[in-house]
Amino acid sequence: ANANASALGMPTAGTSVTGDAAVLTILYGSQTGNAKGVATQMKEQAESRGLSAKLVSMSDYKPTALKKEKFLTVVVSTYGEGEPPEDGETLHAFLATKKAPKLDGVKIAVIGLGDSSYEFFCQTAKDFEERLNKLGAESVYQRADLDVDYEEEAATWIQGALDAFEPDLKAQQGNAGAQAAVMPFGAPTPAASQYTKQNPFEAELLAVQKITGRDSTKDVRHVEISLEGSDITYTPGDSLGVYFLNDEALVDEVLELTQIDGSSRVKVANEELSVRDALIEKLELTQSYPGFVEKYATATGTPELLKLVEDKAAMRAYIEPRQIFDVIRQNPAKLDAQILVDCLRKLQARLYSIASSQSEVEDEVHLTVGLVEFDTFDSEHLGGCSGYLARRAEEGCKVKVFSEHNDNFRLPANDETPIIMVGPGTGIAPFRAFLQERDSREAQGKNWLFFGNPHFTQDFLYQVEIQGYLKSGLLSKVDVAFSRDQAEKIYVQDKLRKNSKDIFEWLEAGAHFYVCGDANRMAKDVHQSLVDIIKENTGKNDEDAEQYLKDLRSANRYQKDVY
Ligand code: 2AM
Repeated sequence: ANANASALGMPTAGTSVTGDAAVLTILYGSQTGNAKGVATQMKEQAESRGLSAKLVSMSDYKPTALKKEKFLTVVVSTYGEGEPPEDGETLHAFLATKKAPKLDGVKIAVIGLGDSSYEFFCQTAKDFEERLNKLGAESVYQRADLDVDYEEEAATWIQGALDAFEPDLKAQQGNAGAQAAVMPFGAPTPAASQYTKQNPFEAELLAVQKITGRDSTKDVRHVEISLEGSDITYTPGDSLGVYFLNDEALVDEVLELTQIDGSSRVKVANEELSVRDALIEKLELTQSYPGFVEKYATATGTPELLKLVEDKAAMRAYIEPRQIFDVIRQNPAKLDAQILVDCLRKLQARLYSIASSQSEVEDEVHLTVGLVEFDTFDSEHLGGCSGYLARRAEEGCKVKVFSEHNDNFRLPANDETPIIMVGPGTGIAPFRAFLQERDSREAQGKNWLFFGNPHFTQDFLYQVEIQGYLKSGLLSKVDVAFSRDQAEKIYVQDKLRKNSKDIFEWLEAGAHFYVCGDANRMAKDVHQSLVDIIKENTGKNDEDAEQYLKDLRSANRYQKDVY
């Protein structure tokens, strides 16, 4: 259990007494790495208390190993409609089957990461706890369901959970463990950059170009940002976190509606500033979520809003068409500046899949940003970050950014390996990065791109580049689905099906398959088309075809970056 500590010549806690039983297993299910980060932090904290802990990804965990656990922490995020991250799917499903073992005497603590603007907030964590409890495991610490802004609460939860585990763990480890409490920290793995989500880099916005046509139904921008002067590096497949400023006109309207003087001083996370600056720079005013309506309802005592707090379905229906300021606009009330601030959550950076490779653009980073734009209640509504980048930010101004690594979306290590990329709409972004990277590496593996959007003349993003790569031979094949250029809709999954035989041959030849873009419909339909392609080419039934894809996934050959 203490292989690492021993190898580093550190004192090892308690191995002589009970072996594995005295280990805290920290099991994580993570799509983008946040849950893994929390799990890693917990392991470090446990070890600094002299407790032995081991970190395991759900994807590497044999469900039958559960029988051997005594102390277990589950750190898991939730996606889409309450779904587990991909690496947790198997275990999540297994726990609900009859094969799941009895877990009497096992002590557990569960922490969930999620986004409270979604209906099934932290559902996967709830499922895990419920299923483990049902099998007999005892929760020794209260589950936390953490929102997008989870860092501080996660750190607090970790300490609380370790306090709860510690006495029993130490008792099992024996005194040797207790004496080893002051263990030296191993050297922390070097951070990729000094700039992080908490400490972003102020970068210069170099260019924002509209790359959809004048008559397009969409406004997509190609954005170029300079990383010069930072130590930020990134790998194709990574994302860039971008902080933005809220619309000043909106902020002034909110201040007027709540009769707040913009210069009033307020506190936001230990920082003191004017309420106007706080609303522009620090707080979420666009993306709505139930927590805001609840707090605003209580702060203002608005009966119609208070009613929503009792009724989840009504709350969903209310939030869906509204941004945060709509709620204030439709329910204006005089408020104290700090009270308004306390109703709002901290502004979250938006993550964009990076559309460039540093091998080509060096200290720049490119993004493909779809402007979120809709009319409702007789006024134009824009997405917070996309509205800022497309409409308010000017070239030359500063934007705060950080890079976020995503090891679950990576080119094959081997340059000879063929790849299939499915990226309709702004889903093209990481594939532009992949292609730049493979081009500069002179990678010999074949590259096949599927792209889709409404109209050929208006929406063929990066058309010139794509055609250039086709001409140079970097792209072996390109298939496009312009959904509205003909009477019936044609989508990327239809193009996949049309190429069933070739897709299957590529997969059999070792190709990696990548999907980026819409999670709710597109990625599911693409998955189904893959299932059908495998059935068609092998005669397998549904279950075996799904297994084929699971195996691809386990081999990191089927990767998704969907949102
Ligand atoms: P549509 O808007 O014409 O229906 C990028 O947004 C492209 O994805 C558009 O051409 C859009 O088509 C298309 N699209 C919409 N639903 C889809 C689905 N379920 N699968 C794949 N593509 C889809």
